[in-house]
Amino acid sequence: MCNNDPDRIARGAGESLKRQGRFITLEGSEGVGKSTNLARVVAWLEARGLEVVQTREPGGTPRAEAIRRLLLDPGGEEPLDTDAELLLVFAARAQHLARVIRPALARGAWVVCDRFTDATFAYQGAGRGIDPARIAELERFVQCGLAPDLTLLLDMPVEAARERLAERGAAPDRFEREGGEFFTAVRRAYLARAAADPERIAVVDASRPLAAVGTQIETILSRRVSP
Ligand SMILES: Nc1ncnc2c1ncn2[C@@H]1O[C@H](COP(=O)(O)OP(=O)(O)O)[C@@H](O)[C@H]1O
Ligand SMILES: [Mg+2]
Repeated sequence: MCNNDPDRIARGAGESLKRQGRFITLEGSEGVGKSTNLARVVAWLEARGLEVVQTREPGGTPRAEAIRRLLLDPGGEEPLDTDAELLLVFAARAQHLARVIRPALARGAWVVCDRFTDATFAYQGAGRGIDPARIAELERFVQCGLAPDLTLLLDMPVEAARERLAERGAAPDRFEREGGEFFTAVRRAYLARAAADPERIAVVDASRPLAAVGTQIETILSRRVSP
């Protein structure tokens, strides 16, 4: 049986406990503009009087951020086993769901998260080569049916996104050190997920100037989100 299953709780306790907040995620590979545009999504929702919780994965709580550091740290002699990487991602997610996401949704807040499980299918699945069926098992185990209501997939050619990252100038983390082939697989996997679930995942052309990307995101929000 699933822990904390909000639908089960709602069914058991009547309509009044049904979650009211909504869950929006931003996805896409490194440098596409997720962090930059997250602020815009938050501002759009706050302007409509909503309580918004802004967060990110992996991370979002102190312990989950500690797992993030383990995942991103490029240092050390010992390679990180791909299954261990996958389990760390879901361990951080379980903590984040329990401590931040589920409580926020339960009190009616809107949660806007920089990356979520689509990233796991893209990076650990397509990027690392883990069978997506195994990822889906962990998704069921950890999320118990909870999924984003809307996902904004910021998409652009891999090389152009890497140029943006180079301009940003921070030292590359364990993922950013991967080559073009890895990120091409990541991009393809994200687009395949969007094609398979267009009701949830909206593709944004992230190659355009920031103002144009912001306008496209606001158009999607006003069409798909009714606060
Ligand atoms: N539409 C855009 N056009 C040009 N530069 C952008 C655009 N969106 C973001 N950037 C810049 O690209 C870099 C990466 O953006 P960021 O939001 O950190 O990406 P992500 O969080 O997806 O890795 C930053 O320096 C940011 O200012
Ligand atoms: Mg970012």
